[in-house]
Amino acid sequence: GPEAARLVASRVLDVPDFPKPGVLFKDLMPLFADGKAFREVVDGIVAYHGRDGFDVVVGIEARGFVVAAAVAYAAGVGVVPVRKAGKLPRPAHSVSYALEYGEATLEVHEDAFTAGHRVLVVDDVLATGGTAEATLDLVERAGGTVTGFTVLLELGFLGARERLAPRPVHALLTV
Ligand code: PRP
Ligand code: MG
Repeated sequence: GPEAARLVASRVLDVPDFPKPGVLFKDLMPLFADGKAFREVVDGIVAYHGRDGFDVVVGIEARGFVVAAAVAYAAGVGVVPVRKAGKLPRPAHSVSYALEYGEATLEVHEDAFTAGHRVLVVDDVLATGGTAEATLDLVERAGGTVTGFTVLLELGFLGARERLAPRPVHALLTV
């Protein structure tokens, strides 16, 4: 709701030219560092999807891990990490996606999901949607059913919502 949006808006730092010239980086670490605000935001995500609305939470390495573990703990469910290439110890599905320069690969263990389990995917920021699209594909490939996707901050002008359609996108704040 409006309170969560206000908390995110007041605790995001704009960092010009990171990680490269011309990019305005949205740093949510001030929100993570504020215990009261972080708890309110996490509780807000759980309330939005319903405490019984999902069976497991997926977090996207690395910033998504912070949000995912907290949401999972608050709801009393488990957390599944989606990791960058080469980090997982057992057989995994891989999805590669284009970056502005080059490509990136995300992976999830083949046995990460129980059939029929409802998966809530969370991340900190939704920008171009490449990371999210790859993650949603990965979850489905591994047999999970995505029932929700939430980010703290959506950069609306980059069109990720349209890219991910018809899959629903929930953002606490869209700028
Ligand atoms: C950032 C952010 C999102 C992603 C969004 O992660 O945390 O995961 O970019 O960008 P996109 O919508 O254009 O794909 P980053 O890849 O910088 O890695 P990190 O989380 O490990 O810092
Ligand atoms: Mg990330």
